[in-house]
Amino acid sequence: MSDAVTVSTRDGVAVIRLDSPPVNGLGFAVRNGLHAALESVLSDDAVRALVVTGGGKMFCGGADIREFGQAPPPGTPHLPTVIDAIEASTKPVVAAIHGFALGGGLELALGCHLRVAATGTRVALPEVTLGIVPGAGGTQRLPRLIGVPAALDVIVTGKMVPAADAQALGILDAVVDGDVVEAAVREARRMIEGEVPIRRTSALDDRVSESRNAPEIFAAFRKKMARRARGFEAPFACVECVEAAANLPFAEGVAKERETFTKLLASDQSKAQRHAFFAERLVSKIADVPKDTPLLPIKTAAVIGCGTMGGGIAMNFANAGIPVKVFEVSQDALDKGVGLITKNYAATVTKGRLSQAQMDTRLGLISTTVSYDDVADADIVIEAVFEDMDLKKEVFAQLDTACKPDAILATNTSTLDVDEIASTTRRPDKVIGTHFFSPANVMKLMENVRGAESSAQTIATIMKLSKRIGKVGVLVGICDGFVGNRMLYAYRRQADFLLEEGALPHQIDKVIYDFGMPMGPYAMGDLAGLDVGWRIRQRQAATRPAHLRYSAVADRVCELGRFGQKTDAGWFRYEPGSRTPIPDPVVNELVLKVSAENGFARREIGDQEILERCMYPLVNEGAKILEEGLAQRASDIDVVWMYGYGFPRYRGGPMFWADLVGIKTIYEAMRRLHDAHGDYWLEPAPLLKRLAEQGKGFGDL
Ligand SMILES: NC(=O)c1ccc[n+]([C@@H]2O[C@H](COP(=O)([O-])OP(=O)(O)OC[C@H]3O[C@@H](n4cnc5c(N)ncnc54)[C@H](O)[C@@H]3O)[C@@H](O)[C@H]2O)c1
Repeated sequence: MSDAVTVSTRDGVAVIRLDSPPVNGLGFAVRNGLHAALESVLSDDAVRALVVTGGGKMFCGGADIREFGQAPPPGTPHLPTVIDAIEASTKPVVAAIHGFALGGGLELALGCHLRVAATGTRVALPEVTLGIVPGAGGTQRLPRLIGVPAALDVIVTGKMVPAADAQALGILDAVVDGDVVEAAVREARRMIEGEVPIRRTSALDDRVSESRNAPEIFAAFRKKMARRARGFEAPFACVECVEAAANLPFAEGVAKERETFTKLLASDQSKAQRHAFFAERLVSKIADVPKDTPLLPIKTAAVIGCGTMGGGIAMNFANAGIPVKVFEVSQDALDKGVGLITKNYAATVTKGRLSQAQMDTRLGLISTTVSYDDVADADIVIEAVFEDMDLKKEVFAQLDTACKPDAILATNTSTLDVDEIASTTRRPDKVIGTHFFSPANVMKLMENVRGAESSAQTIATIMKLSKRIGKVGVLVGICDGFVGNRMLYAYRRQADFLLEEGALPHQIDKVIYDFGMPMGPYAMGDLAGLDVGWRIRQRQAATRPAHLRYSAVADRVCELGRFGQKTDAGWFRYEPGSRTPIPDPVVNELVLKVSAENGFARREIGDQEILERCMYPLVNEGAKILEEGLAQRASDIDVVWMYGYGFPRYRGGPMFWADLVGIKTIYEAMRRLHDAHGDYWLEPAPLLKRLAEQGKGFGDL
């Protein structure tokens, strides 16, 4: 028929096969080919039934996302037209599914009269993760097939449903071992013989009628999802569409779905979420590290230092089934560290998210030592001792002697120069930074810090390892704070200045929370603990450049013995056992006092000003980082912020958000801020200036 769709005939049954590698995406060629194939076999009297299947790895990976929002719009036939034509067929149509049926792929299958899948198949409607609703009848057909509660769960989460579960729900009619097309042809023959009736999903009513005129079902579901979906438009739009499926005739429900789909597709949120999708895929591409760079095999690992970070890092290896040895200065320290790991796992078991057997297996993969000789065979060693250059150098010199020559030596330093650490070894090419985020067993981000001499092989191996242990690795360069914390600093700094000038902690936190961050800077400080930063600032006091503005407000909070949640008081106060920050008059008075002492006439500061003053310098710093070549691309910075700091995915990360705001707007605001406050950290990045003058954005780079 066409290259993208082929037709063969078996036993009076036409087998229409999507043949568009790699995922049989439903771009124009496939839709058009499918439609043409359908017309031809429907008018062919020798054909009595149809099987729709996919060639290669899967049935169908769904719509071609690149076509979304394309101008001019992609050509007809549109997917709903093709699916409607399939469903309307008077000859039986059976879907033969293997691998995946995702998004439009599953919608296509839902349009068939019967669904047969191979064992191991997974199905999903993941549109919600791209900020849209399924747009080819999925929100209307799925509830008719499996009922409202199950459909809500599948559509609103976008989760992968394994074949067995899909069969239990009623999405799939049969799951078979062996040749799925053969099995589908057999079913088609039974339908020809009238043993199995044609069942058109759109005509089903039993399952949806259970939830008709029952707004309480949907209200309860919205309430249940409210926290997880905070700020996102698409999950709520999905619920609306499913509610329409329950209450409206199919055609009206489809119209509602189409209208919602079109509206969301054009929304900033969907643009941001699609950007995030592509950004994540791009992150592993490194300009000077070819894709086929041979990797070092990682079969065993070692972690040096089993404190807050080391323990979490060791868990990551154990979780991925990689044996890991933890090294500490003393048996006491080891006992303490492993005790914490055990407690962490036990908590997950209590929550029902891990079985006791799994916990035992994982703990069994973690062994301990106080001797460097015992880490000699590790393929990778990650150092997580105290943040002290002399100590790290000493540890690396020891490791260099003890470890086999091709072992990678990585440091989890958050501020120190990886090159200086590497210089104490005879293998600087095998030294790299692996900057995990706290808690290291939970947070998905790994900033992989490339040293001047880190080899392509070392980089490629670490990037691959990140994925293997369930992390998102982003390659960054060496600078103070690397990408994430350097940008964070620019933002935190302005927040404290805003306090001096007129804002209060809860006001700033609310603005940042409402923007979509998991919490504001002050709640975050209380969570992380305020004393560590305070001690660092005390050490730096003597060398702090006099011309730089300095806010002492954070120091003053610490001087009261308020170190955050661990002391039940920090920027906020906490009821014993509670993590809910409560604004505290003591701190508010302190803020006012610091303002007065430093001669600030406090003024009313609006929410918009707070947002701009915090977020624009963060973006500005990102621009400096890009220009200095410390991140490969703006979208990598977005990934750092989404995975390391919970930057709302529906804003696409700070750099994407900046493009939406407009670079010119941000540049001009930075210039005004810099003029007004003279702070070095507010100096507009040259890249920002250039983009503003050219009318371009980070996305154009
Ligand atoms: N805590 C965080 O949020 C965070 C985040 C990212 C990176 N980091 C970095 O991770 C590293 C560790 O930080 P942490 O918070 O886990 O510190 P920590 O104080 O909790 O743990 C450090 C551990 O190292 C051990 N240690 C000290 N000297 C050692 C030696 N010579 N050999 C073996 N073990 C030794 C200590 O006994 C202690 O258990 C630091 O470089 C830090 O900057 C920390």
